[in-house]
Amino acid sequence: YNIKSLNTFGISVDAPKFAAFDRIEQLSALLKDNQGLPKYILGGGSNILFTQAFQGLLLKNNLKGIHLLKQDADYYYVQVAAGEPWHPFVLYCVEHGYAGLENLSLIPGLAGASPMQNIGAYGVEIKDYFFELEAMRMEDQTIQTFTKADCKFGYRESIFKTALKGQYIILSVTFRLLKEPVLHLEYGAIKEELAHAGINPATSMPSIRDVSNAVIRIRQSKLPDPTVIGNAGSFFKNPTIDVSHFEHLKLNHPNLPGYPLSQEAPKTSPSIKVAAGFLIEACGWKGYRDGDAGVHHKQALVLVNYGHASGKDILALSEKIIRSVKEKFGITLEREVNII
Ligand code: EPU
Repeated sequence: YNIKSLNTFGISVDAPKFAAFDRIEQLSALLKDNQGLPKYILGGGSNILFTQAFQGLLLKNNLKGIHLLKQDADYYYVQVAAGEPWHPFVLYCVEHGYAGLENLSLIPGLAGASPMQNIGAYGVEIKDYFFELEAMRMEDQTIQTFTKADCKFGYRESIFKTALKGQYIILSVTFRLLKEPVLHLEYGAIKEELAHAGINPATSMPSIRDVSNAVIRIRQSKLPDPTVIGNAGSFFKNPTIDVSHFEHLKLNHPNLPGYPLSQEAPKTSPSIKVAAGFLIEACGWKGYRDGDAGVHHKQALVLVNYGHASGKDILALSEKIIRSVKEKFGITLEREVNII
């Protein structure tokens, strides 16, 4: 089974064993019948790079449904099945006046994958509005509830990428969304886009739909559309470095963007998150192309497949980038995309 159309990088690769499920009982049966085989759950295939065929059972989640579970004075509790595509779910929330996720408009992938790496953009991460999730333990097919604390969310991290990696299948996610919107407009580009649309937050409050529309336009202007050109969004994470390292780099690179991080523990030294896109661009990679593997010309953090690149081509390019950023800046970039 060729899964080129099931990964947004558009990598042509075979999955010897592939199954889709749209009911939980079906999933239980598939897991029981394939005990002992490695398994991988394909969400939207938007954060994965296949460098070889997956030797195991590849499962495609097609669980559907969006439900308002309950509401209280301040919040809506909205449950989304893991197989629902993320962006239409965000639009559904915007239309119903469930506020919180609007900054996360147009992110590719499925709702069930959103907690895996705590997706985030334009000042919001899903952890900010996450309530709980249900997941099936693959080993014994029991269903468990994970609270926000259980998920151990961090920047592009959760327990499902670390301690519990490969052990659970997320079935549904419940968000706690606001009745009274609290807008996140700190990100400069959002204000610019609102101004373009004739909306001035100083004089009139934008709606969550205005914010969603602004984010959609920003993403469309900067990020390649995976249906047109293969990619998996940011290929690397934005790295964290010491203040002293940052200040040293600033001497030669005064425009290097950096955001101070809140200290997690009193003993950790203060650190700065820097823009990997800037580092990669400064090494001359922006717009680079070798065969069909390349670096996007508008956003150096995004690696692209112009058509027939293999996963190995993309991986090799990412290694060259990591080496050159390490040489020039003394920073080791970490990949954000999962590699198979
Ligand atoms: N920059 C450059 N050159 C580039 C790209 C960026 O100099 O080629 C500089 C920009 O000038 C800007 C800074 O880097 O000052 C930040 O750029 P941008 O706003 O595009 O965001 P990012 O840090 O590159 C992160 C997320 C994106 C998310 C945006 C917006 C990560 C790994 N990526 O990118 O998430 O959409 O912020 O919040 O944290 C994703 O994870 O797949 C993703 C697209």
